[in-house]
Amino acid sequence: MAAKLLVLLLFSFPFLLQFRFSAGQNPVRAAYWSAVSEFPVSSIDSTLFTHLFCAFADLNSQTNRVTVAPANQARFSSFTSTVRPRNPNVKTLLSIGGGSSPPAAFASMASQASSRKSFIDSSISLARSYNFDGLDLDWEYPSTQTEMNNLGLLLNEWKTALNNESTVTRRARLLLSAAVFRNSDYYTLPYPIPAIRNSLDWINVMAYDFYGPGWSNVTGPPAALYNPGTQVSGDYGIRSWIRSGIPANKLVLGFPFYGYAWRLANANNNGFFAPTSGAAITPGGDLGYGRIRAFIAQNKPVQVYNATVVSNYCYGGTTWIGYDDTQSIRAKVSYAKQNALLGYFAWHVGADDNWSLSRTASQTWGS
Ligand SMILES: *[C@@H]1O[C@H](CO)[C@@H](O)[C@H](O)[C@H]1NC(C)=O
Ligand SMILES: *[C@@H]1O[C@H](CO)[C@@H](O)[C@H](O)[C@H]1NC(C)=O
Ligand SMILES: *[C@@H]1O[C@H](CO)[C@@H](O)[C@H](O)[C@H]1NC(C)=O
Ligand SMILES: *[C@@H]1O[C@H](CO)[C@@H](O)[C@H](O)[C@H]1NC(C)=O
Repeated sequence: MAAKLLVLLLFSFPFLLQFRFSAGQNPVRAAYWSAVSEFPVSSIDSTLFTHLFCAFADLNSQTNRVTVAPANQARFSSFTSTVRPRNPNVKTLLSIGGGSSPPAAFASMASQASSRKSFIDSSISLARSYNFDGLDLDWEYPSTQTEMNNLGLLLNEWKTALNNESTVTRRARLLLSAAVFRNSDYYTLPYPIPAIRNSLDWINVMAYDFYGPGWSNVTGPPAALYNPGTQVSGDYGIRSWIRSGIPANKLVLGFPFYGYAWRLANANNNGFFAPTSGAAITPGGDLGYGRIRAFIAQNKPVQVYNATVVSNYCYGGTTWIGYDDTQSIRAKVSYAKQNALLGYFAWHVGADDNWSLSRTASQTWGS
């Protein structure tokens, strides 16, 4: 009997351990903080989040090491100790790259084992010395089949190094995530699915920037959840990731705390897909939610929530702004929950209006 019990324990213990490691992922209710926004880290209400991403660390294209710009070092190195007092459970991740980081440097780094190792080793020392709980890769975007394959190698080697570092130092393994394109294909180029599934804790699906005055001469829902007849929607993207083999519980749905303003060609043609003459309000038309609410308070435009596509817009005269207000955020968080996704993230905390969207998201998910 005792022997039988022992056998049972021996066989079930590693099993339980494995179960803890694979299925023990806590929900992700997250947001990025952007250094460029100049929003004070000390003002972040970390009680509204489980994870906070500090953006961005850089890739040095000469050394292939991860670095932090001198102007950001003080805020990055104290990021965790600044956000943690209000929420001792919040996890912090150092995000590397971003939309304005040259993708060629990532392609070059990922192309050789030695440069991948420099990148990986330096990322780990930086994360540890700054006291982050994890690392996040934001390579926008691998754009050839070779680059996608090399991304796969990078992720697998990174995960191996994180496991080793954790074992050797007896510290909790650093988390590893990546921000990815809305679909599991970057246009026709598939992401390395097995490496993503095996080596990342989750992916942040960037389900936004679908329409903007910089690349669309008609108005559009910038971060539509649904967009019938197109492949340009959050739902299409999430389904593509699931279909390609990433389990729902590794997917984190992204939404923007900003919108885009266009100048309408005709003030009376003011729905989605109306002709425009370019950006309004700012050079690129991009506008944080706080500024959008201020515009609404001042100009009293007509406000519309379209529940079919899940997007808000407002228009007054020839100014038209597409964005996510509380209704869109609520619908998206409900979608994430109903589809058993791991969670959601927002870009970026500093653009919110007195925590209104952050709070809506957090309350919709529930605790
Ligand atoms: C394992 O991690 C330790 C501690 O970070 C490091 O010194 C060592 O080089 C690593 N070994 C491998 C094979 O990466
Ligand atoms: C808007 O863009 C479409 C597609 O790029 C193009 O066919 C069309 O001519 C453009 N219209 C205007 C008014 O610039
Ligand atoms: C919502 O937007 C879609 C796409 O443009 C449109 O077909 C639909 O009529 C809109 N719904 C409402 C209620 O305006
Ligand atoms: C910010 O939100 C809080 C909580 O909802 C509210 O009590 C406060 O009045 C708001 N502050 C401003 C300036 O709107």
